[in-house]
Amino acid sequence: MGCGNPQAIAAMKPGETVIDLGSGAGFDCLLAARQVGPEGRVIGVDMTHEMLKKARDNAARVGAHNVEFRLGEIEHLPVADNTADVILSNCVINLVPDKAQVFHEAFRVLKPGGRLAISDVVNIATLSPDLAVDRALICGCVVGAAPVPQIEAWLAAAGFTNIRVTVKPESRDLIATWAPGRGVENFVASAIIEGIKPAN
Ligand SMILES: C[S@@+](CC[C@H](N)C(=O)[O-])C[C@H]1O[C@@H](n2cnc3c(N)ncnc32)[C@H](O)[C@@H]1O
Repeated sequence: MGCGNPQAIAAMKPGETVIDLGSGAGFDCLLAARQVGPEGRVIGVDMTHEMLKKARDNAARVGAHNVEFRLGEIEHLPVADNTADVILSNCVINLVPDKAQVFHEAFRVLKPGGRLAISDVVNIATLSPDLAVDRALICGCVVGAAPVPQIEAWLAAAGFTNIRVTVKPESRDLIATWAPGRGVENFVASAIIEGIKPAN
């Protein structure tokens, strides 16, 4: 389940290499595979065998030959340095305890001049005490969401420039459905996270 549309800001071009962090059933990878075409390639990384199997089955079903799925944690990407033109991720980084490490890894595997196009949930107000201790809302993409200034600081520390985190107020209605009646939409929102690895 994603929480936005990273494709919309990624502006992927034919021949580019794309990595999707936490690729799940492969939906964003398959859309990216179409955009980069046969000369490009897409690598999805996910930490569960179950999601990799789903993603590989989905790729086979649509005959996508320029996409592969690798088992791994996005804090330790199974990808060589300077590989990707674009890093996508859709509703995953909030789930990871060490987000600074994810951004360091993203920087490492991007080529110089490469770009981040991430959709994720961010924190917009201090969580109420009952929500903050609700374990279901950790997996529910609420409790692990980080505040925007913290995300900007992690990205800058990793080396990114042109950092932009754009909160989407229109995500309120969707987010309210994740825990009906709990008011989670007052504390988190969907956002687009962008950055560039400097060219030199
Ligand atoms: C909310 S789903 C999003 C899936 C997909 N991006 C989408 O939009 O449909 C989160 C996915 O991230 C994966 N995931 C969570 N933490 C991860 C980590 N540290 N490393 C790799 N994958 C992770 C999960 O296995 C799951 O497939």
